[in-house]
Amino acid sequence: MAQANPADDPNEIDPRVFPPAARRGTECHQLKLGGIRATELVEQYGSPLYVIDESAARARAREVREALQSEAERIGTSATVYYAGKAFLCVEVAQWMVSEGLAIDVASGGELAVALAAGVDPAIIGYHGNNKSAREIARAVEVGVGTIVIDSEIETERVAAAATRAGRRQRVRLRVNSGVHASTHDFLATSHEDQKFGQPLADAERLVAAIVAHESLDFVGLHCHIGSQIFATDGFRESARRLLGAYSKLAEITGGPIAELNLGGGFGIAYTSSEADAVPEIASIARELADIIADTAAEIGIGIPKLACEPGRAIIGQAGVTLYTVGTIKPVQLAGSNASADPADLGFAERLYVSVDGGMSDNARPALYGADYQVRIANRESDAAPALVRVVGKHCEAGDIVVRRDVLPGDVRPGDTLAVAATGAYCWSLSSNYNYLPRPPVVAVADGTSRVIVRGETEDELVAKSVIPAPAAN
Ligand SMILES: Cc1ncc(COP(=O)(O)O)c(C=O)c1O
Repeated sequence: MAQANPADDPNEIDPRVFPPAARRGTECHQLKLGGIRATELVEQYGSPLYVIDESAARARAREVREALQSEAERIGTSATVYYAGKAFLCVEVAQWMVSEGLAIDVASGGELAVALAAGVDPAIIGYHGNNKSAREIARAVEVGVGTIVIDSEIETERVAAAATRAGRRQRVRLRVNSGVHASTHDFLATSHEDQKFGQPLADAERLVAAIVAHESLDFVGLHCHIGSQIFATDGFRESARRLLGAYSKLAEITGGPIAELNLGGGFGIAYTSSEADAVPEIASIARELADIIADTAAEIGIGIPKLACEPGRAIIGQAGVTLYTVGTIKPVQLAGSNASADPADLGFAERLYVSVDGGMSDNARPALYGADYQVRIANRESDAAPALVRVVGKHCEAGDIVVRRDVLPGDVRPGDTLAVAATGAYCWSLSSNYNYLPRPPVVAVADGTSRVIVRGETEDELVAKSVIPAPAAN
């Protein structure tokens, strides 16, 4: 668990956690996002509010793509970077990603529909999922989705049949578990064998043989996703090594070299300023990966395949900030018999429960994964003594925590605007209407301008979902 450090300035806007260009105005001392004061955004669009810094998202997409592509080129191959839409997808974001040279990875018929509505060329869409419906598969094949990731034996038959019906030859990857476990929260580590995604690597030869037996399928390579929020490259390196290890045998089955290797997503981001959240440069990750792939291919005597990966959080996470308004403050004494045994509470004698106007419905990650976040007062700076805070939501649930532990100026008060950093990924996309809270809108900011890119909901819209029974006839 990342620790807040009381020695840190609780007013500081850390450019490793907030969008890099976010800063306090020199005169107003307010947090500015895309050059606009946080309070101005809340006045215009309401609170809570998801804000995405478009320039930060685009710059990061470019940086990741360029790092992977230049390293791939260095070892004599090419790379495709898919943006994992599950992190946060809407029409504009899909368009930003494509215009920055990324392909799009979708994981449902709904995500596919959004990508198509954005005008994304289906040929650069990859489609995942452990239980795609027959309708979803048929639609993907009919619109000409570039690759479908086959997750099970049953799915091979379903995709083959859909391609035959559509008179198409569908490019497919096979999702395998390399057996490499990413060093991350257990729920996020998806390469364990005892989990729903993918097939054991040991079964790859049999499954690829089943794929190539279908005229309507074109096998392009193996796919593996070892987990999320990964900082160390060891897992990726080992996974790449194991997958490539299977490639000579697979080439015998397919009758030619295997074209591609897809290592999934999972690169981590800094959610807090703590040392535990120090993120390696994407350029060095890309260099290490390229080296291990080149070395392994040489070792086993195969050509280097084309590379692909699917980062989501690493591209959009840091670009997002959620703004909330403080409603109530409750101090809880941690001294005496109630003293916190948790060293991460840093010996504070009091914790302030700071209640905001959103919560687990707009950010489920703390409740789902125990995820940490960083919070700052956005509408002002203060030199009040630091206080240990827990930012909580307004839901009927004790686990409704937005920021488990951070330090804020102790005069935080009702009416303050709070900014929670690094909420661009898996916040809107995991949001819910728990307690009938309408989802907040998503606003993009860039160069002093703002616009809604995903509409918010209203209570009336939520009420309208209930079917009102017709009055009983007398
Ligand atoms: C198959 C696959 N690819 C890519 C991703 C994106 O992961 P991240 O956002 O951590 O990069 C995920 C996340 O769950 C995934 O399951």
